[in-house]
Amino acid sequence: MSPCPTIPARVPRVTDPGEGTQPFIPYGRQDVDEEDIAAVVAVLRSDFLTTGPAVSGFEAALAKRVGAKYAVAVSSGTFALHAAYFAAGVGPGDEVLVPAMTFVATANAARYLDANPRFVDVDASTGLMTTSSLEAVSSDKLKVVAPVHLNGMPVDMQQIAAWARPRGIKIVEDAAHALGADYQGQPVGSCEHSDMAIFSFHPVKHITTGEGGAIVTNDEKLFRQLQLFRNHGMTREDSELLSESPGPWYYEQQLLGHNGRLSDIQAALGITQLAKLDGYVAQRRALAAHYDQALVSLAAVTPVPGNSSAASSAYHLYALQIDFAGCGVSRKTVMGRLRDRGIGSQVHYIPVPQQPYYQRLGQQPEDYPGAQQYYAGALSLPLFPRMTEANVGRVTDALRSALGDC
Ligand SMILES: Cc1ncc(COP(=O)(O)O)c(C=O)c1O
Repeated sequence: MSPCPTIPARVPRVTDPGEGTQPFIPYGRQDVDEEDIAAVVAVLRSDFLTTGPAVSGFEAALAKRVGAKYAVAVSSGTFALHAAYFAAGVGPGDEVLVPAMTFVATANAARYLDANPRFVDVDASTGLMTTSSLEAVSSDKLKVVAPVHLNGMPVDMQQIAAWARPRGIKIVEDAAHALGADYQGQPVGSCEHSDMAIFSFHPVKHITTGEGGAIVTNDEKLFRQLQLFRNHGMTREDSELLSESPGPWYYEQQLLGHNGRLSDIQAALGITQLAKLDGYVAQRRALAAHYDQALVSLAAVTPVPGNSSAASSAYHLYALQIDFAGCGVSRKTVMGRLRDRGIGSQVHYIPVPQQPYYQRLGQQPEDYPGAQQYYAGALSLPLFPRMTEANVGRVTDALRSALGDC
């Protein structure tokens, strides 16, 4: 049974031809309830709006949930990547291996450190980085490989680790989509096959803090670097000071960091949201199973796999590969027809090497045929915890007619 039977009333309503007035179904949406709101209000009434107990409480709860020793809460998933690459030792002229199919942040975080993303192609049916595309890669500038668990589906991390570890390359999992996913029976974030993993708490993700992110790790040294980087590179810890402390006011800036802190207001929301993660993921998986079933009869539509022998997706997105050309209908037309029936959809993503910024840096999109093929067929349908089975039926009926029953 669905824990969240209705779409909230404040979602705009549209007139759906033949179906009367229906609420608009966006492609993604947060779920914030009275318990979440009360937790945020309690922080607003407390002494600490930032750097207080809600942040450390959220970090402890997150580390426990994913089975990592340490968590560092930060202002966004993008900052989490920036901090993770920094802690991994990425500096000017270094390279970070990034799949061509991801959100731009995975690559941009390398640029913030005057390093370069080195793009690798992805599997055309899953959009995921595979070791077959890594075989050809060799570079002494390579510091980090950043596999992305696209749509919430874990990359085969054991294979990535088998490739990266003997080469001395650090592994940062971009798990922005994958909080709640499992790989080899362990939660993504356990860092069994990586040095660090990052999460995002943007409202369309599994849990939200408005904006926010975190890095998890089992390595104490990396943990401390991440903490320093989040807070201007400053320390007050006696054991870390380079000069003798003249008094209790003393602090040292030991590296160039940023203000990447998450506030207690946001962390309070993170704590109550995290307590609901298992229910959210279960609902997403159940909705995905309904979608899979409902779409079997559409020959031009292939759901991007959410299960393998080793992994189980957290279904950040319900992603499809559609043979638009075979159906004789463009993706733009299909998205317009869905919108006319009150249904949001999205494309995740445009291959990053295709972005004008990266083309100016010398990238050529055609060097990544797997990413281009994946992009050509990509469409994400609505998926969020408050959706119901009936909503899935409405979306799949609309898709069927948008594709002309193809
Ligand atoms: C794969 C991936 N990595 C990183 C990020 C960055 O996260 P944030 O929006 O919290 O900065 C996103 C955001 O959507 C993402 O999809």
